[in-house]
Amino acid sequence: RTGALWGGRFADGPSPELEALSRSTHFDWRLVPYDLAGSRAHARALYRAGLLDDAQLNGLLDGLEALGDRFAAGSLRPDPGDEDVHGALERLLVEEVGADLGGRIRAGRSRNDQIATLLRAYLRDHARVVAGLVLDLVEALAEQARAHLGATMPGRTHFQHAQPVLLSHHLLAHAWPLLRDVERLRDWDARAAESPYGGGALAGASLGLDPEAVAADLGFDHASPNSIDGTAARDVAAELGFVAAMVGVDVSRIAEEVIVWATKEFGFVRLHDSWSTGSSIMPQKKNPDIAELARGKAGRVVGNLTGLLTTLKALPLAYNRDIQEDKEPLFDSVDTLELVLPAFRGLVATLVFDTERMAELAPQGFALATDVAEWLVREKVPFREAHEVAGACVRRCEELGCELWDLTEDQLAAIDARLVPEGRPSVHAVLTLEGSVSSRDGRGGTAEVRVREQLDEVDAAVGAH
Ligand code: ARG
Repeated sequence: RTGALWGGRFADGPSPELEALSRSTHFDWRLVPYDLAGSRAHARALYRAGLLDDAQLNGLLDGLEALGDRFAAGSLRPDPGDEDVHGALERLLVEEVGADLGGRIRAGRSRNDQIATLLRAYLRDHARVVAGLVLDLVEALAEQARAHLGATMPGRTHFQHAQPVLLSHHLLAHAWPLLRDVERLRDWDARAAESPYGGGALAGASLGLDPEAVAADLGFDHASPNSIDGTAARDVAAELGFVAAMVGVDVSRIAEEVIVWATKEFGFVRLHDSWSTGSSIMPQKKNPDIAELARGKAGRVVGNLTGLLTTLKALPLAYNRDIQEDKEPLFDSVDTLELVLPAFRGLVATLVFDTERMAELAPQGFALATDVAEWLVREKVPFREAHEVAGACVRRCEELGCELWDLTEDQLAAIDARLVPEGRPSVHAVLTLEGSVSSRDGRGGTAEVRVREQLDEVDAAVGAH
């Protein structure tokens, strides 16, 4: 068996069943460019340690470059006999430069320190891609918010009408968690910027190899301070799995609202034709499939995190083959987000809001009851009493089948005389949608001045990344 990385001590080759179970090339092949970069850095470390002469170093670097070219051209393929990307590339390197030279590259390294490093390198690149896509979505939300400044909608708690808010305020409420996800991706990178390369199987660098130099060569901040930890730890991988899951969940919360808003009952938004789908049987249908798939795939990325953590649970030190199971869930989470986010951005960017309908519904369901209570507080009524009085107004409205602003001065006076003070405007003065919204003008509030301030902050945060 020419391809195997081991075999000296085995009288028989592996069974086909073992090979099938063991093989990972169908999912780790995407690491080829990272593996080749690792090998280039490792070859230079071997050279600096005096284990390769100039001609040997250049021969290896040329061979590795040739493999890189073949990969880029799409013609580099694993064999069925290759166990993983590392073994396949060593086989291919030997084919490229001969056994005497190619057989030198493995000195002082193990697939354990290789994979721990390559996975980090791959995830660091894709974390940057995902962060960029999340920022694109934040921008789409901010653009919709800016385009609809002044538009109102029902703000909800418990999914019931609560207090009216600006549509822009609501949209930005979805932007902030996404900005925090981008921050999470950025500060995760500081922990991911550690290179286990040179740790060998577990016990550390020998042969005079310098892991710090390899780390710098590969764009990491530093080498692992502990070779056992470096090869065995996957907390950094799990952490990225969490941030990916959080992005999925944050997007799913927007998705759910879009789905609800697009119903006949709500009628808050119309979906753009290019960003919605039809039905094979019902000609009238326009379905929010992007939002549904985003919502559904959030479950998938949460599952990936759960699966990974379950694999890691109670694993003894150091490397165990179980750890090979880290890649599929993480790659899937990254792939999923890279698929969902651009589509979801398009969905959000092209939503057409029915701002008239939203404004009409905004104050309904007695959403101005808090304004009644707070008006009484300004009239120096203790809030506990004010709350009772406003509640009584709501009860009266329910009896009469009307909204708060329909109550006459007499009806209000009958509930509580303080609602209609002598010689001053009655509570009616604050029973308007605009008044309610503009009164919430404290930091973070829904008043337009505050929302404009927020928009500038979101723009600045997007610009800073
Ligand atoms: N393919 C393995 C992984 O992805 C790395 C190889 C380690 N194999 C071994 N027998 N030590 O984790």
